[in-house]
Amino acid sequence: MKYCELSREELLVLKDETEKRYIEFKRKNLVLDMSRGKPNKEQLDLTMDMLDCMKIDSYDTITGIDSRNYGCFEGIPEARKIMGDLLGVDSNNVIIGGASSLNLMFDYVTTAMLKGVCGHEPWSKQGKVKFLCPVPGYDRHFAICEYLGIEMINIPMLDNGPDVELITELVKDSSVKGMFCVPKYSNPEGKVFSDKVVKALAELKPAAPDFRIIWDNAYCVHHLGEHDDELLNIIEYCAQVGNPDIVIEVTSTSKISFPGSGISCIAASDNNIKDILSRMKIQTICNNNINQLRHVKYFGSAQGIREHMNKHAAILRPRFDIVLEMLENELAELGIAKWGNPKGGYFISLDVMDGCAKRVCQLSREAGVVLTNAGATFPYGIDPNDRNIRIAPSFPSVEDLRLASELLCISVKLAVLEKMLTK
Ligand SMILES: Cc1ncc(COP(=O)(O)O)c(C=O)c1O
Repeated sequence: MKYCELSREELLVLKDETEKRYIEFKRKNLVLDMSRGKPNKEQLDLTMDMLDCMKIDSYDTITGIDSRNYGCFEGIPEARKIMGDLLGVDSNNVIIGGASSLNLMFDYVTTAMLKGVCGHEPWSKQGKVKFLCPVPGYDRHFAICEYLGIEMINIPMLDNGPDVELITELVKDSSVKGMFCVPKYSNPEGKVFSDKVVKALAELKPAAPDFRIIWDNAYCVHHLGEHDDELLNIIEYCAQVGNPDIVIEVTSTSKISFPGSGISCIAASDNNIKDILSRMKIQTICNNNINQLRHVKYFGSAQGIREHMNKHAAILRPRFDIVLEMLENELAELGIAKWGNPKGGYFISLDVMDGCAKRVCQLSREAGVVLTNAGATFPYGIDPNDRNIRIAPSFPSVEDLRLASELLCISVKLAVLEKMLTK
């Protein structure tokens, strides 16, 4: 029965019962973490053979450069090819970075602020700089903007991606210089941008000629079911519609091999690649070529990576199912929360009754389960409706996840009952 259909007396009884359950949980002295999207040990174990696959006779790349030495600062050719194939981009339009795509995004935006993009004036010298931020979104994108003093504008995520009508309107302002997107299995909602949305974004005609979409394709092969969803190839489409420079794509193997020890890449048009390389030449002599070769030897091809991701899906799916089943059993009929059923990525996005998300996180934390801070999925850490909570089911063990998600549901009920009863 929906909470809104209950009398005050009935709500009071429910609150009393829920408080008792909550206190029982507190007594368990749990120390659990559902806050960050980290692979679990089982997933990390999958790629352990990678550490042994370098006992080989030659460390030369296909172009004959010894990968143990300086060289190939844009990445070894075979790594550029695999990552290019993964994204559907020519290898000449792919640069391999270090272990982190976040680092590539940070460097890109920072350089745009300081030096400008493709010969344009530095963003920071053109007055106010604004970014469009689909919400809920990835807190570390927002952190980059906040750090650099870029004003962020919330763009609601709709079912098939961000609100492109609003975006089309807002890019008429030349101080809007960019936008972050997680187009496939978005963080935190797990949504996949439809072809229509991808096309509309690729066809944008912003007032700022130096506007860039940062296409963070972190979850490009991270499906949870048996099949991977299709995302329209934005780089290809941008070229087709004569807008090749508008997009900068990044991804990494952080959640394919090892977070912090994988390889990342940035893919873009000829102009953008030339621009990025001109800065990278100053920044580094080369990245970790041995690690690039290790990834090439281990996975063999983009298809090898895709096949490997089925193993991750098999480990992750049951964890997501535990949380989703708990939400369904505990909350579905109460009309106090909504959540998505992601087909990929690392998160479940939970919307609770307005004004309750912070309290839910507080109650969970006080009983031993850490969730991502309420508000973190919005610029400046401010969720205007105090509604969204990002759940990360990947890391805890299956048993811990059962406990943690039950406590989460109890915390949701308690926070909502408190709110309804103080009205
Ligand atoms: C959307 C998104 N982009 C980037 C990252 C970080 O990737 P990397 O390890 O390549 O820096 C994450 C990590 O959770 C993420 O969720």
